[in-house]
Amino acid sequence: MPDPQRVTIPGLLEKKRRGEKLTMLTAYDLPIARLVDEAGIDIILVGDSLGMVALGYPTTVPVTMEEMLHHAKAVRRGVSRALLVGDMPFMSFNISLEKSVRNAGRFLKEAGCDAVKVEGGQGSMESLRAVRAILDAGIPVLGHLGLTPQTAGKLGGFHVQAKEAQSAVALVKAAQELEKAGCFGIVLECVPREVAAETTRRLSIPTFGIGAGPHCDGQVLVTQDLLHLSGSFHPKFARTFARVDQAVLKAVGQFRKAVGQGSFPSAKESFTMASVQLEKFRRGLRKPEAVR
Ligand code: KIV
Repeated sequence: MPDPQRVTIPGLLEKKRRGEKLTMLTAYDLPIARLVDEAGIDIILVGDSLGMVALGYPTTVPVTMEEMLHHAKAVRRGVSRALLVGDMPFMSFNISLEKSVRNAGRFLKEAGCDAVKVEGGQGSMESLRAVRAILDAGIPVLGHLGLTPQTAGKLGGFHVQAKEAQSAVALVKAAQELEKAGCFGIVLECVPREVAAETTRRLSIPTFGIGAGPHCDGQVLVTQDLLHLSGSFHPKFARTFARVDQAVLKAVGQFRKAVGQGSFPSAKESFTMASVQLEKFRRGLRKPEAVR
């Protein structure tokens, strides 16, 4: 029996039709995945932001398929309700169609993801071809347009995209191509809100904005950004919803102090022997052969 609480792709499309807002957050490990799932978020994305946020790489480019799968498997174990999407890392698609399909399939077969996300398509026939091939293999695809971090170098850096009329029109057309190809949704990253609004209006599949203003069907954020766990880098579009960094610092400081003062662990936080065994233990230590 399918779980009625489980988020499905038709369910997401229905929410867009009804005008209900959608939510997506990233997770790279079990504890965050569990909490995000329990909080009722629609989509959990194992983003390749993993590379920068959790693995300490300077960009998302070095992230490998093996790293993505390792983390996606851990996230899967914590998700029972949300739709789970694995992000295809740089050079896992676009090399050959066969490789694109094979790598996308690994997210479903090995990590238990429900779908994959693929960056690009705007001005890149290669990405569009890869998206079509993956969809043809029966794998649901979430598109990603605007600022595509894997190819930020080609875009001239981490800048807002589609700011000029011509590139804005190109973005809307690319989104329509992705919809026509069969994508079930599109992430719009760092584009002017007017462009995101117009794209959203022209599509029947949902858009998920990140730095794309309030008129998208849904919003997506890197969970570490909303918890203030991303160090000193705070993108303009990412709101801090909780200072978890401060809570962690406080708790760790208290642990250090309690250990220093000898107040941790307390008697209640330790184990004890039955008195008969304790007596025998002490007697045993007094016998020379027992300590040999
Ligand atoms: O990798 C990621 O986390 C993403 C989101 C920011 C959409 O692509």
